[in-house]
Parts: sequence; C-alpha cells; structure tokens
Amino acid sequence: MKEIPEEAIKAIKEANKLVVLTGAGISAESGVPTFRGKNGLWKRFRPEELATPTAFKKDPKLVWEWYNWRRGLIAPIEPNEAHRLIAEMEKLYPEFIVITQNIDGLHKKAGSKKVIELHGNIWRVKCTKCKFKEENRQVPLKELPPKCPKCQSLLRPDVVWFGEPLDKEVLEEAIFHSETCDLMLVIGTSAVVQPAASLPLIAKNKGAKVIEVNPEITPISAIVDWSLRLKAVEFAQKLREHLFS
Ligand code: APR
Ligand code: ZN
Repeated sequence: MKEIPEEAIKAIKEANKLVVLTGAGISAESGVPTFRGKNGLWKRFRPEELATPTAFKKDPKLVWEWYNWRRGLIAPIEPNEAHRLIAEMEKLYPEFIVITQNIDGLHKKAGSKKVIELHGNIWRVKCTKCKFKEENRQVPLKELPPKCPKCQSLLRPDVVWFGEPLDKEVLEEAIFHSETCDLMLVIGTSAVVQPAASLPLIAKNKGAKVIEVNPEITPISAIVDWSLRLKAVEFAQKLREHLFS
C-alpha cells in the first residue's frame, strides 16, 4: 500500500498508548547507512569482524577505528521529518514510547523524550573492567583505543554486539510497553534481529493494532494489520497532514 488507509489513520488517532519501534531505515534518509540494504554496512564490512565481543578481544583497535569512522559519519547528521514527526506526536498521546534499535541518537536529537535504546548508543563508552560509563562525543576520538580514566582498562562502545544479551531492564521495559500499547508503529526495520523482531508479535498477541512502514516486505509484513510500502519520510509527511493540519 502506497497510501495510509483511512482505518489506519483512525487507529493512530484513537490510540491511547502508542509505541513506535524503529530500525536503521528511519535514519536512512538522514544519510545513516542501513545494515542489510543494497549498500548496507554488512555489504562492505563483516559484522563478525567488527560487531562482536570476539572481534573486540582480537583487535580492539580495528573495532574502535570502525566506530570512530561511524561516529564521524553520524556526528553532522540531522534527524529527518520522520524523527521530527515522532517527536511532535509525543504530546498528542497520554502514553507515547519510542523503542529504537538504532544507536545514532537521532530520536533524542529530534526531541523525543521517552526513548528506549535497545542496542545502546554510539555516543556512550563504558569500561571493559569497572563500572565507568560516560557520554563521549569526541570526533575523532583523541585516543584509539580509548582507556578508562578510572582504571586504565580498555573502554568499549556502549552498544550491544552480536552474541551479547540486551540490558535486562531495557528489554523488560520494551516488552512491557509492547504488551500494553494499543497501537505499534514499526518503521524501518528488517525485523530479522531478535529480540527486537518479536516486539511487534508481542503487541499483536496482546490485541494491539500494528502498522509497518517499510519500502520492502519483511517477515512481519504478513502478520501486521497494515504493511505500508512507504519510506519513513513520505509516511511522516502523509501522517502529519492527518495529525497536525
Ligand atoms: N524508510 C523506511 N525503511 C527503510 C528505508 C526508508 N527510507 N530505507 C530502508 N528501509 C528499510 C529496509 O527495507 C530494511 O528493511 O529499513 C530496514 C533496515 O534493515 P536493517 O539494515 O537490517 O536494519 P535494522 O532492522 O535496524 O537492523 C537491526 O541489526 O545489525 C544489527 O544492531 C544492528 O540494530 C541493528 C539490527
Ligand atoms: Zn575502568
């Protein structure tokens, strides 16, 4: 579907608790590469060499050089109309939560207040040994690989790598909101990485309406209530007319 059906608009307008689940596709039109698209990151880099604890153990400098490059790429990037509309929608609902798989920080940069970052944030670093954690926006990083100021051990990006569990509280909160929303908007995710990919199924099983926004078909396209073959920005432009005009 290239238009937003009337009944989908009605469901969005009538929702009490709206959850938006986003993936790399929502940041694509801001210029942040996705992972699995035609020119996605995993076409040019091998995730097992860069985004796993083993890779980091084997060559922390290589992994940090890759994150340094990604941080440099993301630093000047601005949120797009989809991030902005989602931020503005917050005030229309009694409860409005953004659950994102993205580590680019663009939802918060657009003004969203309640953002659950399932896979962490590229702008946060944490110590591999002690509890030290801080926001670090140096571009480029002054020291590669960066060291903990408390114990001199290696710092790492505060992101979730393949083979790592998500932060327990973060995941529990995301599941709770998926179970208790009455509408979930799923924007820009290939819906193949767990546990994020299960959140729309959880919402559906608990009776929520689920709307998917993705120019491609995904494994959840068949189970959602409306699967819209739209890009995030064109969807946001159409929805804005219904919500704010
Ligand atoms: N608007 C909406 N969706 C888009 C757009 C766009 N302009 N451009 C691409 N997409 C869609 C693609 O069709 C694809 O389905 O966005 C999706 C991006 O999928 P992935 O690259 O797999 O990104 P994501 O689903 O967020 O990946 C999940 O995998 O590599 C890990 O941790 C990483 O958080 C990431 C997780
Ligand atoms: Zn430390």
